[in-house]
Amino acid sequence: MDKQKQVQYKVESGGALNGQISIPGDKSMSHRSVMFGAMALGTTEVSGFLEGEDALHTLQAFEQMGVVIDRPAAGKLIIHGKGIDGLHAPKAPIYHGNAGTGMRLLAGLLAGLRFEATLTGDESLNGRPMSRIVDPLKLMGAQVTTAEKGTPPLTLLGGEQLTAIEYTTPMASAQVKSCVLLAGLHAQGRTVVHEPGITRDHTERMLRGFNVDVITDGLSVSIEGGQQLKATSLQVPGDISSAAFFLVGAAMIPGSDLTLRNVGINPTRRGVIDILRLMGAHIEEINAHESGGELVADLRVVGARLKGIEVPTNLVSLAIDEFPALFVAAASADGKTIVSGAEELRVKETDRIQVMTDGLRILGVDITDTPDGAHIVGGPIHGGTVDSAGDHRTAMSFAMAALVSDGPITVLDCENVATSFPGFVELASGVGLRVSETRTAD
Ligand code: S3P
Repeated sequence: MDKQKQVQYKVESGGALNGQISIPGDKSMSHRSVMFGAMALGTTEVSGFLEGEDALHTLQAFEQMGVVIDRPAAGKLIIHGKGIDGLHAPKAPIYHGNAGTGMRLLAGLLAGLRFEATLTGDESLNGRPMSRIVDPLKLMGAQVTTAEKGTPPLTLLGGEQLTAIEYTTPMASAQVKSCVLLAGLHAQGRTVVHEPGITRDHTERMLRGFNVDVITDGLSVSIEGGQQLKATSLQVPGDISSAAFFLVGAAMIPGSDLTLRNVGINPTRRGVIDILRLMGAHIEEINAHESGGELVADLRVVGARLKGIEVPTNLVSLAIDEFPALFVAAASADGKTIVSGAEELRVKETDRIQVMTDGLRILGVDITDTPDGAHIVGGPIHGGTVDSAGDHRTAMSFAMAALVSDGPITVLDCENVATSFPGFVELASGVGLRVSETRTAD
C-alpha cells in the first residue's frame, strides 16, 4: 500500500452541522500572495495565508530562488520582495506537489526571466495537461519543454525576450489566463487574453493591489509589459472552495444552523452559493464588505430539503472546484440534477466526474456520468467504502455524504486533504460531522 492510501476517514452516519467556524485561507489567493510579494519591490505582509501543502510549495519555490520569507505567526508572512528581476536560478527542480495553480502560474512568471527552471510535481500533477499554457508561452517566444504527452516536468529555458500576444484561451481557465498575463509582465507590448467564459479574477485584483495596471473589459483582460510590482499588505479571506463542504453539509440537513465567518465571496467564485440557493438552500450573506479588493462575508446556512435542478451552464466556471460537493448535495436532493458544460472537471487533481460517479454509485446513488457532467437522481444514500483517489475535494465531499447516509462511510486515500484544508477533521467534528481519521500501518 502506498503512502497516500494510509489516511482514511471513518464517518458515522447522521448528525447535523451547528456552530460558528472560520475557514482556512483561500488557496488561490495564498499562491498569488507569495508570488506577487516575492516579485514586488519592498516588504509585503500577508495574513490569513493558507498553510496547506499546495501554497507552502509555492512559498518554498521562492525561497529556492533566493527570496526571504518570514513566518512570524500562523497564517502570517513577511515577504522580502526582490523586484521583478531579482530572483536567482533555482539549483534544483522546483517541486509543486499536487498544485496545478502553483505550477501554471509560476511557469508564466518565470517564462521571461534569464535563467532556466524545471517545474515538477506529484503523480497527479505530473499527469495533468500543460499544453494549455505551453502553447501561448511559446507564441510569446518562450522556450519550454514538457514530457512526451505535454505533461510535467516542464522546463523553461529562459533568456528569451518575450513579445506580447493577443490570445483567446480554448477553455475557461483562470490558470491559463493568469499564466499568460504574468508572462505578459515580462513581455514587450500589451498582452491581451480573451476568455470563453468568466473565470476567477484574483490575479487581476491582486496585481492592482500591487500597483500594476490591469485592464478588464468584459471577458478580456490586458496588461502592459515592464510594470514593476510595489509591495503591499494583504489579508487572505477564508476559501469559499473549502467552505463549500460545510455549505453543502449544512444545507442538506434540516436541523443544521452553521455560520462560516469571513469567507471570500468574489463574484467569480460564488457559484456554489447561487447553485445551492437554486436547489432550495437557505444561505444568508451577513456583513458583506470589501477587504483588499475582494468581497468577504459571513455565510449562515440553515438546513432544508434540497431539490434537484438543471445547473445553469453560466454558473459552472464560477463553481468549478465545488462540483464534488455539489454532486453530494444533488444525491441527497428530491428529484434529478443535471450538470453539463463541466468537462474541465475531468482534468483536475483527478477526473472528478469519474471519481464522484464511482463513489456515489458504491453508496447506492443513481448517477450517470456524461462527457461534460452527470445526471444525478436524489434518493437514499447508503454506507460503504469509497476511494477519493487521492483528491482532497472528493475526499471531503464523500465525508459530508455521511450526514445523509443510512450507514457509516469510509473514505480512502485522504492524505491530500492537507493540500488545501489542514485541520479539516478537527473543524468538521467540532461542528457535528462524526468523522475520525485513521492511519493504516501498511
Ligand atoms: C485556480 C483555477 C482553477 C481551479 C483551481 C485554482 C486558480 O483552475 O480549479 O483549483 O487559482 O487560478 P482552472 O483555471 O484550470 O480552471
